[in-house]
Amino acid sequence: MAKNGRLEGKVAVITGASSGIGEATAIMFAKEGARVVLGARRIDKLEKLANQIKKAGGEVTVKATDVSVEQDVKELIELAIKTYSQIDILVNNAGITGGLTTVEEQNAEDWRKVFNTNVLGMVYAIKHVATYMKERKKGSIVNVSSVAGIRSGAGGNAYSASKGAVNNLTQTFACDFGEFNIRVNAVCPGLIETEMTKPVFDYARDKGKESKLGSRCELRRYGRPEEIAAPILFLASDEASYITGQFIPVDGGNTASLNLPGMKV
Ligand SMILES: NC(=O)c1ccc[n+]([C@@H]2O[C@H](COP(=O)([O-])OP(=O)(O)OC[C@H]3O[C@@H](n4cnc5c(N)ncnc54)[C@H](O)[C@@H]3O)[C@@H](O)[C@H]2O)c1
Repeated sequence: MAKNGRLEGKVAVITGASSGIGEATAIMFAKEGARVVLGARRIDKLEKLANQIKKAGGEVTVKATDVSVEQDVKELIELAIKTYSQIDILVNNAGITGGLTTVEEQNAEDWRKVFNTNVLGMVYAIKHVATYMKERKKGSIVNVSSVAGIRSGAGGNAYSASKGAVNNLTQTFACDFGEFNIRVNAVCPGLIETEMTKPVFDYARDKGKESKLGSRCELRRYGRPEEIAAPILFLASDEASYITGQFIPVDGGNTASLNLPGMKV
């Protein structure tokens, strides 16, 4: 990998790196010189990605990890420390949608599933990384939230509530860790084409309505995983050294406007 990359000398742990935004982030971080430690449930996909990163000259370690299981997350963090003796960056990216059923159709287990991954998965990782980052008095944590955590209408009820919790915890942890020079921020993606949104894209394409995808964004299009990885990289890097406690929409302008039907052509 090229020296003097934007993350040269840093070690980054990324969860949910087996596809989509997490995969794009892992590739971008490695290109910028970070040694990356990748956790996700599908080890075969992680190993394939690791080979790709190594072929390009990057350094990578992978481990099968279910972020909803605290012991798994603890072991992922410990592996990063054992392998590279430090963790500079944590990207909490793993997430699930939980579907689009109504509250009358749901039970507590449906809500627990979404919160166990999207909220507790992030809390476990922050808990286990905190000791190491506090010791070194530096660190950058980036949570992958969603516009669904800011407004309604971009996912199911439990998903939206879980991302609202991620946004609030981003500020809460930023306040808890500020004195230790640990920054905590979040990106809130709009509609991005990944495995998560595949059913939406498949449905629209089947119906010949692809042009409608992302059409309510000010930029009139949906986004690519790399367009989320880039602001994650910025927030993770020293370039964002005075930014903490922020959750930043990366959504083609979607949340900037009420975008009422009929108001614009
Ligand atoms: N795609 C979008 O439009 C969009 C919009 C807003 C926010 N997001 C958020 O971006 C993040 C990444 O999603 P994506 O769009 O790349 O979808 P994706 O499905 O491609 O990626 C999610 C990743 O998380 C992993 N994962 C899920 N549960 C896990 C668990 N318990 N333990 C470990 N890994 C787990 C999945 O296997 C997958 O690799 C998620 O947090 C998602 O909520 C996505």
